[in-house]
Amino acid sequence: MPKSGYDNTLSAMRTLLAVAAVMSVALTAAPQPPGKPTVTRTPTQIDVDGKRIEVFTLTNAAGVEVTAMTYGAIILSWKTPDRTGKSTDIVLGFEDPARYLKGDSPYFGAIVGRYGNRIGGARFVLDGKPYALAANDGPNHLHGGKRGFDKVIWDGEPVKDSRGVSVAFTRTSPDGEEGYPGALTMRVTYTLTPKNELIVDYLATTDKPTVVNLTQHSYFNLAGDGDILGHELRINADRYTPVDKTLIPTGELAPVEGTPFDFRKPMRIGARVASEHPQMQFGRGYDHNWVLARAGAGLSVAAELYEPSSGRSLQVSTTEPGLQFYSGNFLDGTLTGKGNRVYKHRNGLCLETQHFPDSPNKASFPTTVLRPGEKYRTQTVFVTGVR
Ligand code: BGC
Repeated sequence: MPKSGYDNTLSAMRTLLAVAAVMSVALTAAPQPPGKPTVTRTPTQIDVDGKRIEVFTLTNAAGVEVTAMTYGAIILSWKTPDRTGKSTDIVLGFEDPARYLKGDSPYFGAIVGRYGNRIGGARFVLDGKPYALAANDGPNHLHGGKRGFDKVIWDGEPVKDSRGVSVAFTRTSPDGEEGYPGALTMRVTYTLTPKNELIVDYLATTDKPTVVNLTQHSYFNLAGDGDILGHELRINADRYTPVDKTLIPTGELAPVEGTPFDFRKPMRIGARVASEHPQMQFGRGYDHNWVLARAGAGLSVAAELYEPSSGRSLQVSTTEPGLQFYSGNFLDGTLTGKGNRVYKHRNGLCLETQHFPDSPNKASFPTTVLRPGEKYRTQTVFVTGVR
């Protein structure tokens, strides 16, 4: 059949886009005038499942630099200036991409899935059919199982994006992977904008009904070193989801008022982290999901973090209903990371935008079910700055 004018235009556009993508990579390999936003693509010598791990570096004119790799779609580093202009890496992790293959990273910088956080009893029922998952956290399933999305190789590609410099990671999780039904086709894009935003766009479709809850698991330290107890945190939430002793939500949405979970006004994390509140005993500190206060759907501010000594700030906005604030309670000095730093108790914290833990077993929580023909589309925006 002869091609229509529309087809011809489409194919010409595709060629142009492909050429533009290649050019942007090639161009940025050459020295750039200071301040020009760039995306570079560097292969490593490491192969996983027959694919080479590649590293992408995004920079903007304001001196922010984010590096991510195709293994686990992991953010390896995130360099931002402090209030004097001195740049530091504000996320925990390892220098050498190969180090992540050892399998003992506590999800440093990774995209977590197919289901971020816990599913109680490592099982759920969907459309009347029971599904069994790996119990990799006591009796429960955590962060997608034994080999979740943080431990597999994705494809990576720089993409043209009017908002800034971008890299897209794509992967299809096969039907039955880690016990989940349906082949899940995903695209996670990191876009660094001139306004120091890192926009994370998540897109997924499935060929069978399934459950999905993807999140970004960076461990932040806005001082670049030491513990995070002096960081001030605000969480835009009046309620949180209390948990049992295995960290599975009880189903209740409890008010934060009068508890250590009240971050409606900025509070030092260290102020109440040692509280006797029974909920704080279960997680050995903060390891809970907050029910975000939002006026309708769309992007809304979830949290604001500030570190007085460096002056660095981080704002997190999201389309998701929940935020897991994890105060790095299980870091215990056994891992040595970038710059030979030993990661001790509470040397980093996670702000994981998400649907609530154990939603597949909690009919009253917002649903995490994705069906064929539907699009899973969420967005989280991290903005770094100084005060
Ligand atoms: C969980 C913690 C867990 C940590 C690292 C967080 O998202 O809530 O309980 O220890 O990830 O695995």
